[in-house]
Amino acid sequence: MFSFLPVLALLATAHSWYTCDEVEFCSNIRYNYNIGSYSLTNIEVDTSVTGNLINEQTAESFSFTFTALVGDTFRLTVQDADNSRYTPKDDVLDGTPTEQSLTLVSISEDLLILSVDDDLSVYLYVSPFYIEVLRDDQVIIEINKANRLIINTADEDKSLSLDISFPIANTAYGIPQHAENLSLPSTGPGGLSAYRMFNVDNWGYPAYTREALYGAIGVLYGISTDITSGIFWMNGAQTFIDITNEGDGVDALFISETGALELFLFAGPTLRDCVRQYTTLTGVTPLPQYFTLGYHQCRYSYMSQEDVETVVAEFDNHNFPMDVIWLDIDYSDGYKYFTWNYTAFPDPEGMQNNVAATGRKMVAISDPHIKVEEGYFVYEQALGGDYFVKDSNGDVYEGECWPGLSSYIDYFNPEAQEWYGELYSLENFPNTTLNLYIWNDMNEPSVFEVDELTMPGDLSHYGGIQHRDVHNMYGFKQTQATYAGLLKRDPTKRPFILTRAHFAGSQRYTAMWTGDNSPSWDHLRVSIPMLLSESLAGIAFCGADVGGFAGNVDEELLQRWYQAGVWYPFYRSHSASDTERREPYLYSDEIQERIRSALNIRYAHIPYWYTLFFEHEITGDPIVRPLSYHYPADEAVLPIDEQWLIGSDIMAATVLHEGAESIQTYFPGGSDAYWYDLENNLGYSGEGYYEIAVDMDSAPYYYRSGSLVFIIDDEVRSTEEQRGKSYTLRIFLDTSLQATGNFYFDDLESFDYRNSLYHYLQFTYDYNTNELTIQKLHEDADFDGEFIIDQVEVNTLGVLYSGSDSNRLHQINRQIIYANIVVGKMQSRKTIKL
Ligand code: NOJ
Repeated sequence: MFSFLPVLALLATAHSWYTCDEVEFCSNIRYNYNIGSYSLTNIEVDTSVTGNLINEQTAESFSFTFTALVGDTFRLTVQDADNSRYTPKDDVLDGTPTEQSLTLVSISEDLLILSVDDDLSVYLYVSPFYIEVLRDDQVIIEINKANRLIINTADEDKSLSLDISFPIANTAYGIPQHAENLSLPSTGPGGLSAYRMFNVDNWGYPAYTREALYGAIGVLYGISTDITSGIFWMNGAQTFIDITNEGDGVDALFISETGALELFLFAGPTLRDCVRQYTTLTGVTPLPQYFTLGYHQCRYSYMSQEDVETVVAEFDNHNFPMDVIWLDIDYSDGYKYFTWNYTAFPDPEGMQNNVAATGRKMVAISDPHIKVEEGYFVYEQALGGDYFVKDSNGDVYEGECWPGLSSYIDYFNPEAQEWYGELYSLENFPNTTLNLYIWNDMNEPSVFEVDELTMPGDLSHYGGIQHRDVHNMYGFKQTQATYAGLLKRDPTKRPFILTRAHFAGSQRYTAMWTGDNSPSWDHLRVSIPMLLSESLAGIAFCGADVGGFAGNVDEELLQRWYQAGVWYPFYRSHSASDTERREPYLYSDEIQERIRSALNIRYAHIPYWYTLFFEHEITGDPIVRPLSYHYPADEAVLPIDEQWLIGSDIMAATVLHEGAESIQTYFPGGSDAYWYDLENNLGYSGEGYYEIAVDMDSAPYYYRSGSLVFIIDDEVRSTEEQRGKSYTLRIFLDTSLQATGNFYFDDLESFDYRNSLYHYLQFTYDYNTNELTIQKLHEDADFDGEFIIDQVEVNTLGVLYSGSDSNRLHQINRQIIYANIVVGKMQSRKTIKL
């Protein structure tokens, strides 16, 4: 039932994308080691250090500001004397960062020593200019130590570069979006091509490259088992990055096409601290509605109303849970967004209501290109309002996309933003209901038949902004407008948006997926580091097309992808228009059973995901995490990216290799830690690799000893059916025969949680006393909604009583306690004897 032809066809016609060496500004800098230097003058130390940075060769002067921010973060800004270089700060930063005082420890002609506290200090070298950040007297970040700072000022070349090093790190993570390993391989002249950040429609992209994809986030972490630190290069223009991590330390060279130099430094000292420091600056993903964590069924395209309703019915007939069915571009009339193709979708409202009646939602796509057509209301309004991007002559820019000739909304115009958002209102988007959510695609933006399939840099946006200055922010600005629009449409519900193009700060508005991947094992594997890298760069709500988009998928790979996707924050299957249909009910009973089992595992754990999303909003901790997030001192976990953690308590290690009969799985935590595999009733000690035998039914995941996880055992058709269901409390004892975990619960959809209407509780179970203690984590929070725990499962291992033995593998003993624990409004703490 499959063929590889479409994949090959895609690859044969795949675009080629520029490398640094093919782009003049970049190659000029990459190979230019023999450059002048900069020095600092007119230094003043107040709450910040300010001064002038002078190019010693050209005598050009730039304004220099170095500030300490709360939370062991620093900010460096270098601007033109007339402040003319573009900075994305107003869009990217989630409010004005809070400054913190810097103490001037000493000052001489060559060096200023500043400190934040006893542990953290900064050495500012005056001439040549460079910066060192020290923690506990160790240099953890160096800026311009290799003297690669360049700020070009010619009209035709305003590029800039800077070298950044993490001298005690040996591993680099970050700078999404690339289809690369989590631990970034070294690049550089004579070696691998540089990482490129330039949002493009790289359909059918290859796995394991540093090519530009759909998103760009300049966050880089230098990791070591001792101290981890990081930086954020805040620049909206095309950027290349070389990374070297082969000797001592991690060295990076950032090269951007234009913009001000805006750099944030994160002093860690752990990866977790760095990620929190970054999300403090750029914000977090607000708690999504509960349904968004269910399974999403998509295809390019479901071609008719009947098609949509049949797919939903078949999911029910075959007992596959699903929460959302998606409409790709063919629902619209000739790819004119905010219209319907009434021939194929004669009653869109009826369709949405029918889907809603099954407890499900819909999502419709809406792209930023607008068909050039007289009489099309969106086009006419945008033209009338002057809301389109302009070409270099000041005329409305036109390019080809799905509808043919199109113009592109200029989301940098605040009026256009507002107008665009309002297009999503029930009045403006006819025949829509509040059951419909939005997918913003092709927003790099994609332009067919032009160089690199995107807008040229000399286009102009509102206020005279050159497109090249903000290229990587275009999709971000679209989702910002969509978010505001959905919020206006229904202020009582949390919006849901999926985007392809993204930038630093996109997490505040939208979920993200990894675009047009392919049905290959490499793509299944690389999806994990891609999602981990995005997660560490704030994009908490992320997923990859299950099954691989661009081509037919074989049955084994499809099943493995469903098993892995269980543990993606965003879980959606999607396929290209020229592929065979692959709804799960089309396969043999055996395959259906495996896919059903994967979906049921997902649904059982949605309460756990939901709690993590709430915690993300308050802490910035990602939902999915590399092992090093929780085991920072363990050198062996640094490169691991075929296993991942969901929160701290579940480790996914599903099968990502074709024909696998066994996989090597790493169990972290040391001899005191155990990992529970409930499917096979086995517990593994956390002492490194173990060979796990697998067959097609195996989709291994493990619970951490000492954790306690809420699940919903009953099989359901959608999360709607989970409302009011009782919970099972799964307890996994540790060596002290205890377990702890958090649980969050609210109305699952509104913003009332912002008014403290929720339960956020810590549960602790002590086997020695057989007591369950419930402790409020937020004293002020309370909520009328009750929930019931009707079953407590206590999982233990014999070894926990007998003390450690040399065996790493242990049988699980499970004791099931039927209970009727009703939790509603409560005092701060209660203890229940089980
Ligand atoms: C490109 C997107 O990446 C893909 O998911 C979508 O199906 C097509 N555009 C058509 O809208």
